[in-house]
Formats: sequence, C-alpha cells, structure tokens
Amino acid sequence: MDRLVIEGGQRLAGSATISGSKNAALPLMAAALLADGIVSLQNIPALRDISTFSRVISVTGTTVEHSQDAGTLTIDPSNLNRPEAPYELVKRMRASFYMLGALLGRMGQARVSLPGGCAWGPRPVDLHLKGLEALGAEIKLDEGYVVAKAPGGRLAGGTFELNPSSVGATINFLLAASSARGSSRLDNAAIEPDVGVFCRMLKQMGARLSGIGTRTIEIEGTDQLRATSFSNCPDRIELGTFMIAAAIAGDPGSPIRFENADPSHLGEYFVDALRQTNTGLELGENFVEVIAPENLLPVSIETGIFPGFPTDLQAQWTVLLACTDGNAKVNETIYHDRFKHIPELRRMGINAIVIGNEVVVEGGQPIQGAQVMSTDLRASVSLVLAGLVAKGETTVLRVYHLDRGYENLEGKLSGLGATIRREKYDEWADPA
Ligand code: EPZ
Repeated sequence: MDRLVIEGGQRLAGSATISGSKNAALPLMAAALLADGIVSLQNIPALRDISTFSRVISVTGTTVEHSQDAGTLTIDPSNLNRPEAPYELVKRMRASFYMLGALLGRMGQARVSLPGGCAWGPRPVDLHLKGLEALGAEIKLDEGYVVAKAPGGRLAGGTFELNPSSVGATINFLLAASSARGSSRLDNAAIEPDVGVFCRMLKQMGARLSGIGTRTIEIEGTDQLRATSFSNCPDRIELGTFMIAAAIAGDPGSPIRFENADPSHLGEYFVDALRQTNTGLELGENFVEVIAPENLLPVSIETGIFPGFPTDLQAQWTVLLACTDGNAKVNETIYHDRFKHIPELRRMGINAIVIGNEVVVEGGQPIQGAQVMSTDLRASVSLVLAGLVAKGETTVLRVYHLDRGYENLEGKLSGLGATIRREKYDEWADPA
C-alpha cells in the first residue's frame, strides 16, 4: 500500500498543468457504449476510477484501450453482448451505475449491481430508477442487483423532474433517453459542467438534444448514435484544489499559474469566496493565476449545486480556514456527514468542530505534522493540503483513495516546490 510523506513549510511557486476531468470522463465513457463503432476520447487522466470503469465496461464484451501516456481512451462496443455490471467492480466506484442507462439505451436490458454507500453515508439511487421508469423501463431489485428491461426491447420517450437535482440521475436518464422511441424531457436537470460536456458529446454522436447547460433538457430518441472522437474538459475540482493549495502555501505576492484550466467550470461562488480571502486571482481562457496574500481572511461557505460552492471542495476549504486568523464555517448542504476528514485534521492541531451539517473552524492554531488516515477521495487531499502548511512531517496513509481522482499529485506538488514523496508501507506491520 502507498503513503505520502510531506515535509511542511515549503513555499509553492511556478506552474502546474491541470489533468482531464474525472467526473466528465466517466459519463463520456458510458456514452461511448451507445455508438455504432469505435469512440476515441482525448485528455483522459490516468486515475484509478478510469481504470475501474474501463474494467466494468470490458465485462460487457466491449473493447477498451487506455493509452495513459497519451491520455487517450478508445472504446469499441461492437462486440457488446453481456449487459451486466458486477458487484465486485461497481462497489469500488459509484459512477459504474451509469452502466444502467447505457446498457438500457443500447441493449434494452441491464443487470447492474446497486452501488454501495460511501465513506460519508448512504447515497441513494432512487432518482436514477424513477427517471428510467419514466421512460418505460421495467425495474426490479434482485439479490442486490437492479434488473431492468425495456418492453419490446426499446424504451419509450417520457418526462421526469428531478428532486433534488442529481448529476448521476441526469446522466443515466439522458443515456437511456438518447435511443428511446420518441421525445423526452428532463426537468431540474443538473447543470454541473461535467453534464454539459457529456451532452455536447451525445450531440456530436447524433443525439437530437436541446437545452444543454439549462435545467430543462429535451431529447429526441434516435436508433443508434454515431462513433466519434471527443476531447474531455479539464478537471474543475483538481483546479480548485490546487488554487486552495496556492492560496495557503504560495509565496505571498508571487503568482502561481495553472495551465489547461477552465475557470468557468468552478462556478462564481467558489471564485468569489476565494477572492474574499484576499487571494489574488487572474482567470484566463485556459489558465488561472493565483497570488497568495500575506494574510488569508476567514470566509464562511455553504456548498450547493452548480454554480454554488462545489461540495467536492469543502474539505479543502476547511484547511484554508485553519490557515486564517479568525473563525468561520463550512455548511455542507448536499451530503449528510461528509466530514470524515475532520478527526484526522484535528490530530494535526486544527480546531474544527462538526455541529450538525456544519464545521466551525477556529483559525490561528499551529498546525503540526502527524500520521493521518485517508477515508475518501476529497478528504485525503485535504490531509495533503494540511501537510503542506504543517510544522514538521505528515504521513498520509491509504493514498489509494487519492489515486482515484488526482493524477500524479505528488509530482505536480513537487514541481511547485513542495517536499513530498510516495513510499510503500505495510499497513499491518507492528510499530518498530
Ligand atoms: C457526482 O456524484 C460526483 N461524482 C460527486 O463527486 C459530487 O460530489 C456530486 O456529483 C455532487 O456534485 C461523479 O460525477 C462521478 P448527485 P452523484 O446524484 O452523481 C442525492 C468526487 O469526489 N440523490 O448529484 O452521485 C444525493 O444523496 C465525487 O469526485 C438522491 O437523493 O451526486 C445527494 O444528496 C464525490 N437520489 C444529491 O442528490 C438519487 O437517486 C446530489 O447527488 C441520486 C442522488
């Protein structure tokens, strides 16, 4: 198993390149299953979630080739003959549930394992199932699997309103509706940038789709979607994570530049909140420059659906608040109890207290290096951020969580001047 060892206190400077978006790449891969030939995807990051989903897709008989160096992925669904997604793989990554909409759309049937919960609590799929039933799917649960079929082998168009808005349920509905017989409409659709990029690929494949980027998407089903070549967008959550790293550990006054970035995907709430901390920002067409202030100001945030503050950046923001001299709050409105990182941050001396679905952070406390445990993807990166600014050495254990969603994180941070290394360790070895 791997761990990251960080020597805190190094000032960051220079530039880094943002990788392709994990949360856009996954629906693009699912959309490829609807094509009448080989689909080529570019700017696909080398992440555990991408290789997990590649394995899920391969189970169906589809050919998947990932050239990690080139960042390209080719998917050939011509031999897709097994409309299944097994528990052993789905349990590793919730987004595998996109197989339900893709297989129903292509094959008119699907047997997909229900995803497990997450480190931070239950994550229902009721909206996914109701949306597909609105398209005529007959769905039953059997031994932990969703068994779905389209009467007569093809779904019928239908309408559905999401409540609450859901990224995954939006993706699954559109995957199935794109090849349904007739027209469909989805109300209160998610408008996260990942969904917009996914819709643009469906349209490029021949889907007759309107309302991209709005909360009402209409789609006219077609028999078959065309093969295509499509380039993925940059990862907005990696960008936001690095912007916070620059704000807390950058050399005050000197800009740190992030290339291959799309700041419009961050949402204005996050950008405004970071500006209010007195961090200097320059937002370019495809780059972002961050200038760390002498003193960060405490700014309370509340997570929300796009363009609100991304829930995937709330753990990282908690570390930023610990680096200020005042008190502030993080209010998590999307998930229940997405705070598994707090006990680990407290071991580093950060005074953060969970009250209901809020974290109250008292800044100004000295942050000390410690051995800390990753529990989920974004929690683990908050521990790395704390390690950058801690006094002494921090060891972040179980970084397989981190490898799900950050490509070469230690290489990029080292390139910015951090002292960080990856090493193997035996989780069960007795202390020396
Ligand atoms: C996507 O998850 C992202 N994952 C998550 O990022 C992100 O946190 C989340 O959207 C919110 O932005 C991917 O894109 C692969 P939701 P998803 O369905 O689709 C409730 C990361 O770190 N809900 O929009 O699962 C749900 O409980 C990951 O990269 C239902 O009630 O999120 C939550 O409260 C973590 N019923 C809210 O909707 C349903 O059927 C939003 O969830 C589905 C969801």
